[in-house]
Amino acid sequence: MRAMPGTETDRSPQAKEMADESMVRNLAAQADAIWPQELPTMRRYQPRDILDVGCGTGEVTARMAELFPEARVTGVDLIESHLALGRGKTVRFGDRVRFQPADAFELPFAAGSFDLVVCRHVLQAIPTPERVLAEMVRVSKPGGRLHVVAEDYDMIHAAPTRIDVSYFWHAAPRAYSKAAGIDLHIGRNIHHHLRALPLDDIDVHYAHVDTQRVPRETFAAIFEAWRDGYTESTARSLGIPEAEAREYFQATVDCIRDPDGFVLWVVPIWTARVR
Ligand SMILES: C[S@@+](CC[C@H](N)C(=O)[O-])C[C@H]1O[C@@H](n2cnc3c(N)ncnc32)[C@H](O)[C@@H]1O
Repeated sequence: MRAMPGTETDRSPQAKEMADESMVRNLAAQADAIWPQELPTMRRYQPRDILDVGCGTGEVTARMAELFPEARVTGVDLIESHLALGRGKTVRFGDRVRFQPADAFELPFAAGSFDLVVCRHVLQAIPTPERVLAEMVRVSKPGGRLHVVAEDYDMIHAAPTRIDVSYFWHAAPRAYSKAAGIDLHIGRNIHHHLRALPLDDIDVHYAHVDTQRVPRETFAAIFEAWRDGYTESTARSLGIPEAEAREYFQATVDCIRDPDGFVLWVVPIWTARVR
């Protein structure tokens, strides 16, 4: 059985990759690609107190502060340099927005504190994501909403490509998950975790990050950042040379940039109401 997260490394096994400069550019590109497709769902909420769990550099913390001018927004993360970037992005909102260091496994808030609890691109990177979901439920008010962007690395398709990237996007996340003790297919596995919690109205829709909807340069920036941040650890977990792993990332990037190429990354966005 997997150990319960204890140390900071256990609680964020990808801490090194998360703090890398490639992650800062990745989060900016991901927000540009995905936020516009989250907006219709976000507009259905009427939050007063929002918590952004694993807020990173505050890309979406800032967008939520803009969208909900009456709401207080709190972002928490383990990486102080990310929180500092978030503070820089949100100065104009004054004390309506705050960032504080905190662990998603032990949120430093009383039960029932928030009416919208957001967690984007975090659960794929941590062990026992169901414990973080339970914490999110605990700090939500009854009737409050959970909004979770849960990645699934078997939902990536590209054609034509000069090498078989389908093999890579199928095999690499499985090997990586096993090596790191995380779940890179949380996008589908989250359903049974949500069902085990006191939640109603569990639903999912999908951001379609593809070469039709998202500017190719924005899309390419995401995969380039993964290439730069994850080649070494992916090669290690898959047991292949780094150059080979890099080539799979690069072939996907080149397909995105090719006007004749089509690439699709389906990103599940799960929502639920707390009982
Ligand atoms: C891929 S980033 C996503 C950032 C942000 N939610 C966004 O959508 O732009 C994942 C973030 O989760 C944070 N994280 C990982 N484990 C955490 C934990 N146990 N507690 C708090 N934050 C954590 C990382 O430090 C990182 O900033």
